Amino acid sequence: MSEAPALATRGLVAGYERDLPIVRGIDLTIGKGELVAILGPNGAGKSTYVKAIAGTVPCFGGAIMLDGKDITAMPLHQRISAGLAFVPQTENIFASLSIGENLQLAADVLPKALRAARLEKMWAMFPDLASRPALRAGQLSGGQRQMLAVARALIVEPQVLILDEPSAGLSPKIVSSVFAMLQSINRSGVTILLVEQNVKAALAIADRGVILVEGQLRHEGNAAQLATDPLLAELYLGAQPEKASA
Ligand SMILES: Nc1ncnc2c1ncn2[C@@H]1O[C@H](COP(=O)(O)OP(=O)(O)O)[C@@H](O)[C@H]1O
Ligand SMILES: [Mg+2]
Repeated sequence: MSEAPALATRGLVAGYERDLPIVRGIDLTIGKGELVAILGPNGAGKSTYVKAIAGTVPCFGGAIMLDGKDITAMPLHQRISAGLAFVPQTENIFASLSIGENLQLAADVLPKALRAARLEKMWAMFPDLASRPALRAGQLSGGQRQMLAVARALIVEPQVLILDEPSAGLSPKIVSSVFAMLQSINRSGVTILLVEQNVKAALAIADRGVILVEGQLRHEGNAAQLATDPLLAELYLGAQPEKASA
């Protein structure tokens, strides 16, 4: 095993237009097996940052390293082959297709010989999904949709799994089951980068948390310490006045 971090960004600049970068020089190193939570106020650039890492938003500067390999210039599908999986916040499943079709499509990026076995693995890992493969994904509850989205991402057996607000719109009880699942995936050896608005739940399973404000990394720390750090509230509240008084 190499000593390189699982994932790192160096001075990453990214956004939707070159002259208007949203992510403005982020340095972050994530060790193998770590679970890191990315926190920060609405509009801080969290989604843009992870989309840039996943390859769905252009990078204008800096570099992204996956297990020591520079993936900055790689298109999306090559990043997946290199070991990176991304669960976006929205449109992470095909609602009009069945559960089985959703998983089969995700398996299509794999060499043919591996597909059947990987599908079996996912069915074993997600018995709730396995019990009704023909059900249209659009019929699933919010929590089950997230499970399916995660199963789709895991089918390639990624080294690094990135998730953008997997708890959005879920009830507290379902949030804890989704987070318990993420924790067990992490314990099985998958490095996780988790963007969350649900600060408490995220820090409860994370090793480390980082706070993004206005496209820059403002603060980071051990998850347990960060959970009680007054600066956390300050950084969230501090960013509110722009948005609040409407
Ligand atoms: N598709 C897009 N095109 C242009 N600007 C965008 C787009 N998506 C987000 N932005 C802008 O990027 C900034 C950061 O958004 P985002 O990364 O979604 O923040 P967060 O996930 O932290 O809430 C916001 O100012 C937002 O308006
Ligand atoms: Mg977001």
